[in-house]
Amino acid sequence: MSIKDKIQDVENKFTKDTKKPPTSPKEVDLIKTKYLGRKGFVSTLFSEVISLPTNERPIGGKLLNKLKLQISKKIEDYSENISIKNSSKENIDFTLPGDPVQIGSRHPLTLVLEDIKSIFIKLGYSIAYGREVETEYYNFEALNIPKHHPARDMQDTFYIEPGVVLRTHTSNMLIHTMLNQLPPIKIIAPGRVYRNEDISVRSYCLFHQVEGLFIDKKVTFADLKGVLDYFAKEFFGQKVKTRFRPSYFPFTEPSAEMDVSCIFCNGNGCNICKNTGWLEILGCGMVDPEVFKAVNIDNEIWSGFAFGMGIERMTMLRYGVEDIRTLYEGDIRFLRQFS
Ligand code: DAH
Repeated sequence: MSIKDKIQDVENKFTKDTKKPPTSPKEVDLIKTKYLGRKGFVSTLFSEVISLPTNERPIGGKLLNKLKLQISKKIEDYSENISIKNSSKENIDFTLPGDPVQIGSRHPLTLVLEDIKSIFIKLGYSIAYGREVETEYYNFEALNIPKHHPARDMQDTFYIEPGVVLRTHTSNMLIHTMLNQLPPIKIIAPGRVYRNEDISVRSYCLFHQVEGLFIDKKVTFADLKGVLDYFAKEFFGQKVKTRFRPSYFPFTEPSAEMDVSCIFCNGNGCNICKNTGWLEILGCGMVDPEVFKAVNIDNEIWSGFAFGMGIERMTMLRYGVEDIRTLYEGDIRFLRQFS
């Protein structure tokens, strides 16, 4: 028998064998093994094709490949039909709607940080990210906060080992940025900070701050007020008023704190603003000459301002959150309100 006839013969056998198509996965498997298995008809013919004289091999190979494809396709169809039939036996209703997917929401702290970032990006600031494990030098000394300075007690510090702390504020980024970048500089640096404080309605052992720094020639306190007043109006609404109170920070001179008119009572006095009509939102000031000295920037040529604010505080004010701990508990009922 020629190879052509043998191939035709296998095809006829297959047609006969599937005259009554297989009705179970097991029957499909049997057919599959009989024809396509390692010792099946088709494989056997392939070994015969290989031993043909060279000039007959291509035609034999082509015919046999065609048959193999044909059989594979049929077998695939059989098993597909069987699985569809079986699933309709299980009474599956394909027209039922799917289970609804719970769509998550972004955390309120993320929402507020995104807002703050976009306001400063509009003003041409870029974003700088820094480390949370920090040396005392960057967290304190270079910021003009020497050992035994009372400001170190104000910020109860977590020590990793002597000389290494969890940063107590994002002001460490003032130093890193000024060492890594030549002026002019215009950045904000958001991130986590840590303080060893008792956890309560108002304070938590970790929270977030955004630091800001602007250094250029001839930057004045008027620029600081302009930028921060613009920021407050963009964030809280155009009707809000700002005021600057003299304050003290070792790394700025002069230093100030900025208040906004109370957004809950429009400045008339309520229990949130303790009847003052004002809410404190950030610390700021002109970069102290001692700090410029630490980073080798000539303060005869360059001047600048810095500011720092707490993101938790901004979030609590914006959404009327009364207990800082709710921002960390991950209670779905709280978080869903921000979708
Ligand atoms: N680092 C200060 C704090 O944690 C906030 C601060 C005040 C940052 C004044 C500044 C600044 O950059 O100029 O309380």
